[in-house]
Order: sequence, then structure tokens, then C-alpha cells
Amino acid sequence: MMRDKITVIGSLNYDIVVKIPRLPKLGENLLADETVFSAGGKGANQAVQASKLGVPVYMVGCVGEDAHGDFLLEAAEKYGVNTEYVRRCSEHTGMGLINALKDGSVFASIVRGANFAMAKEDIDKAQELLKETYLVILQMEIPQEINEYAIEKAKECGCKVLLNAAPAAEIPLDYLKMCDIIVVNEVEAGFYLKADVKNEEEARKGIAALAKAYETDIIITLGKAGAVVSEQGSVSFIPSHKVQAIETTGAGDSFIGAVGYALLNGQSLTKACGFATCCSAVTVCRLGAQDSMPFLREVEQ
Ligand code: RIB
Repeated sequence: MMRDKITVIGSLNYDIVVKIPRLPKLGENLLADETVFSAGGKGANQAVQASKLGVPVYMVGCVGEDAHGDFLLEAAEKYGVNTEYVRRCSEHTGMGLINALKDGSVFASIVRGANFAMAKEDIDKAQELLKETYLVILQMEIPQEINEYAIEKAKECGCKVLLNAAPAAEIPLDYLKMCDIIVVNEVEAGFYLKADVKNEEEARKGIAALAKAYETDIIITLGKAGAVVSEQGSVSFIPSHKVQAIETTGAGDSFIGAVGYALLNGQSLTKACGFATCCSAVTVCRLGAQDSMPFLREVEQ
């Protein structure tokens, strides 16, 4: 059987991005400059990026029976993501409340909503799909026990598993060891390592410790600095492309979707990270999450 698909099991969120000149102080009402409503959620964003690059992508998740749910399904489908495994449920669709500053930095709160209505049955229904899937991509915006179940099922079905361990939370070591690739940013790396990870040197030190503890390949993304990757114990630094960032929501998701695309096309993990930095460089130069992610021809240009 040809394994030519990426399956993303995870979140879909309706994002409200508020552009503000600075963070408000305690008790202050700060006037915002602009609001952008966009399709988001780490899962859906990663699915859309991989699909925009041209590989078959399936999304497994939950949205509400509300207008936000309609909006998210339309957005994913517009970019070619197959949504037949996204269930509609009675909870409200998940939401991302994102404060974006002028320098591109973001401060976000995520409302769990329908993402946390996901059940083991949603994974069981996708069993046949998993048998045709090369790479399963997961994040941490659905219940932990469903993620664990999904990892088990994906491994049973012979898939490669990439876990974007974000937002950071305690994960049993056995499940971390079952993953093939774990991706974290510098803040999440700090959580898992219980140590600061603020630059290349600290990331190189930290990644060696994570790779040894979890016995997997690891990527630590460092925002505009680049990324450090540990592939089979060999550590490399991938510098990012210098661009004028407008808004960074979804930049990490763009990177992960692109890594998935490149792996499916036979690249090594380290090479895939090089390609992925090109994608996320384009993403941060535009507004919103999914709309800002590039098609393959734009990355090549
Ligand atoms: O990674 C960015 C995403 O995280 C946003 O789209 C938001 O919805 C949260 O899931």
C-alpha cells in the first residue's frame, strides 16, 4: 500500500488577532489598532501548510455546529485539506485570542472548546486512513489521553509520528519515546528541560539532553534566530532567513507543515528543516495564520 498522505490529528481554532502598540498594564484599557479574524489552530495550520505545498493532507478533529466551525472547514478545504474526519459537535468551536505587537511578537490564550470534545472513536474512525498515512502530526491542543491513544494507533498502523509538544505540558515518557520527531520552540524546550533555552548554544546543549531522554529526533525552533535539529544524535543549526516580520502567528506551524511535506518527499530531517525555514520566512511577512502560508511556487521563488 502506498503511504502518500499526511494526517494531522489536532486543533482547529477561530483566531481573533488584535494588533496593539504594546501590552496593556494591569487594570488598563488599551485602544487596539486593528482586529483580524482568521482560521487557525495549530493542527489546522500545519495541515494547511503541508497541503499548500502540494501533498495529500487529512485533518482529524472537532469543531462546533456554529458559524466559526463552518468558517474553519471552508478555510481548510479551500487550501485542499480533506476534512471528512472533522466531526461537528455541540461544544463551541475552539478559539485563539492573540495579541500581536508591531515587532511581530504574539501573546496568545487558547480556548479549548470543541477540540476537547475529541474522543477515541474519532481516532478509531480514521484507522483505515492511518494505514495509508506516511506521517501523523500531533500537537497538544486536544485532550492528552486522546493524543496518547492517537500515538499508539499511529504506531500500530506503521506511521511515522511527529509531535509538536505545544502548548507545553507533562507527557508520559513512554509516549514521548514512541514519537519519531518532537518539535518545540524555545519556551516549550525550557519547560521540558527545566532550564533556559534562549540561544543557539543553550539549544544545542538542551537538544542533546532531550534526544537522549526521549530517544527521538528533536527540533528546537528559535524564532527569528533559526532552529536546532538533532537527527540520529547529530546536531545542526539551521539559521533563519532575514526578513521584515509583520506578524508571526502560525510561523511555527508553517515550519512544521513544511517539514512534513519535505519528509514525505524523501528529504532527511535536517534538509527538511532548511526548506521549512524558507516557508516560515514567507509566512511571517504576511498577516494571519493560514492565509499567510506560502504555496510551493512562492517558496521556490
Ligand atoms: O500556532 C498558532 C496557533 O496556535 C493559532 O492559530 C492559535 O489558534 C493557536 O492554536
